[in-house]
Amino acid sequence: MGNIVYIGTSLDGFIADRNGGLEWLEAVPNPDNDDLGWEKFLEGIDAIVMGRKTFQTVLGFGVGWPYPKKTFVLSSTLEHLPAGFEGEVEIINGAVAGILRALNFRGYKNLYIDGGTTIRQFLSEDLIDELIINRLPILLGGGVPLFGELPEPLLFEHVQTTVLLNEMVMSRYRRKK
Ligand SMILES: NC(=O)c1ccc[n+]([C@@H]2O[C@H](COP(=O)([O-])OP(=O)(O)OC[C@H]3O[C@@H](n4cnc5c(N)ncnc54)[C@H](OP(=O)(O)O)[C@@H]3O)[C@@H](O)[C@H]2O)c1
Repeated sequence: MGNIVYIGTSLDGFIADRNGGLEWLEAVPNPDNDDLGWEKFLEGIDAIVMGRKTFQTVLGFGVGWPYPKKTFVLSSTLEHLPAGFEGEVEIINGAVAGILRALNFRGYKNLYIDGGTTIRQFLSEDLIDELIINRLPILLGGGVPLFGELPEPLLFEHVQTTVLLNEMVMSRYRRKK
């Protein structure tokens, strides 16, 4: 597994709308509250690495900490965590390659990488092993992009594609080296 991205995008490749909003992720009716493989995915990872902006988005949901795995929040500005998060969340800072080495050394080998800027940094250093991308049938026309410029092309191999709720297309790709 290694470093994995698991993310919902618009057809035009945005992960949040122009206001940072995520309401469009709920646009597809899901009458049976199918978790779309989310719990199984979380079971397979050791920890989460997320950008500060994504962390603040999750805090804004106001539902407590929803993840069952240790979370490392990348930030150079956050000084304190909100009360009650100390055991579950840790703030880290620095170059992603060094962060990765430190986390692997601590036994966190399979990492869920989350947040646009964060994912793009890992990709630009060729540090993503798997991409799981769930495309929703909407064009947002702007917002936070999933992908950006890379120093060189990165080839992935297709592992599986599943149509979810007859509306969304979830594709899994593995880095091909
Ligand atoms: N569609 C989805 O499934 C999905 C999933 C996740 C997130 N999102 C959305 O994406 C948006 C957030 O993405 P984003 O691109 O704005 O930001 P992000 O990656 O969540 O956070 C960016 C911040 O992370 C910190 N950071 C990143 N790399 C760092 C490093 N190496 N060292 C120290 N700090 C580092 C910096 O925080 P400081 O400024 O504090 O230094 C930076 O401003 C939110 O709107 C969120 O809701 C959508």
